[in-house]
Amino acid sequence: MPASKKRVGLEIARALALKPRLLILDEPAAGMNPSEKHGIRELIERLNADGLTILLIDHDMRLVMGVCKRVAVLNFGKKIADGTPEEVSTDVAVIKAYLGTGGEQEVRSAPGASGVDEETEVAESAARIRPSREPEKAILDVHDLSVSYGAINAVRGVSLRVATGEVVALIGANGAGKSTILNTLSGLIRPDSGSAFFDGLNLANADPSTIVRRGLVQVPEGREILARQTVLENLELATWARRDGAAPRRDIESVMKRFPILGERRQLLAGTLSGGEQQMLAIARGLLAKPRLLLLDEPSLGLAPQLVDEVFRAIEEIHKDGTTILLVEQNALRALAIADRGYVLETGQILLSGTGDELLHNPAVRRAYLGG
Ligand SMILES: Nc1ncnc2c1ncn2[C@@H]1O[C@H](COP(=O)(O)OP(=O)(O)OP(=O)(O)O)[C@@H](O)[C@H]1O
Ligand SMILES: [Mg+2]
Repeated sequence: MPASKKRVGLEIARALALKPRLLILDEPAAGMNPSEKHGIRELIERLNADGLTILLIDHDMRLVMGVCKRVAVLNFGKKIADGTPEEVSTDVAVIKAYLGTGGEQEVRSAPGASGVDEETEVAESAARIRPSREPEKAILDVHDLSVSYGAINAVRGVSLRVATGEVVALIGANGAGKSTILNTLSGLIRPDSGSAFFDGLNLANADPSTIVRRGLVQVPEGREILARQTVLENLELATWARRDGAAPRRDIESVMKRFPILGERRQLLAGTLSGGEQQMLAIARGLLAKPRLLLLDEPSLGLAPQLVDEVFRAIEEIHKDGTTILLVEQNALRALAIADRGYVLETGQILLSGTGDELLHNPAVRRAYLGG
């Protein structure tokens, strides 16, 4: 038995020795791979069949939906749904909490929400693999990419393409492997196998600095701005690697025009900006590196709905100005709404792909987030 499963098995055995009438399991499958999770699921089912009552606390929706008879969903300390797995996984409030704050209008037509024409299920298998929709000529070409952290296989055989001019969304639940893919493309992590090429540059062994200079620029998850430097200093830093004389100053002025709030706050310490403003700063910094392909990792993370709107508006404008974008988001509905195409990632593998519109109405997308 792998170490993590052995440890959990031992902890459960220790609890069972106390002859519990109710066994509470707090994320028993955290950090496990799919086959270990399957083992935990079998163990829970066996204990339950033997007559033990179990309260499972977990965010792994596939495990929860597979093993529980009744599910209560908490969101920021409030119970938003309570019912059978089927009831809960088609509940509009739950879908909204997991797939993003698309506004009431969008959520009502979310993939798999009650009332959605289930005939769209049929489209699911057709959308699963759509090589014909993938561009012939791609600026980014990822093939059969696998990446691991020690024993954890975070990304397994992922293939995806982005053509010049597209906005492509890469969506998936927590821990699906989205950031791992972006960090591999930026040269920060090396893949175990497979290939990734950006405009002919082999990303599997190129230096991160070479990759950025070639025009593949990542805005990292969590923004990573320099909180103790001013807004202007953050922007100036972003242009230091460039050798094109006076142009950086002009570019800084032009990003400040695009994001007027940054112009107004240029002398303030970046750490005093609101979350949304910090995200704008992070995106502005990315733009100053003159991206030909901009990788955005969870730009809406942790932002209030109004700021999410602003960030998505900015992304659309940047795209209209001619920047190609690979957008990683947990907020699936918003990302798909602005994407030409999308890929749905589930535990390290591409589950399905298609146009933004197809995925937006595909119940399989909901299942990738909610299990069931
Ligand atoms: N530095 C690391 N060391 C070990 N495991 C890691 C490391 N970084 C990520 N992982 C694991 O790899 C898997 C994929 O993580 P990753 O950060 O790529 O997911 P993600 O889709 O970006 O998730 P999120 O939506 O939470 O940002 C997860 O199981 C995670 O625990
Ligand atoms: Mg991530």
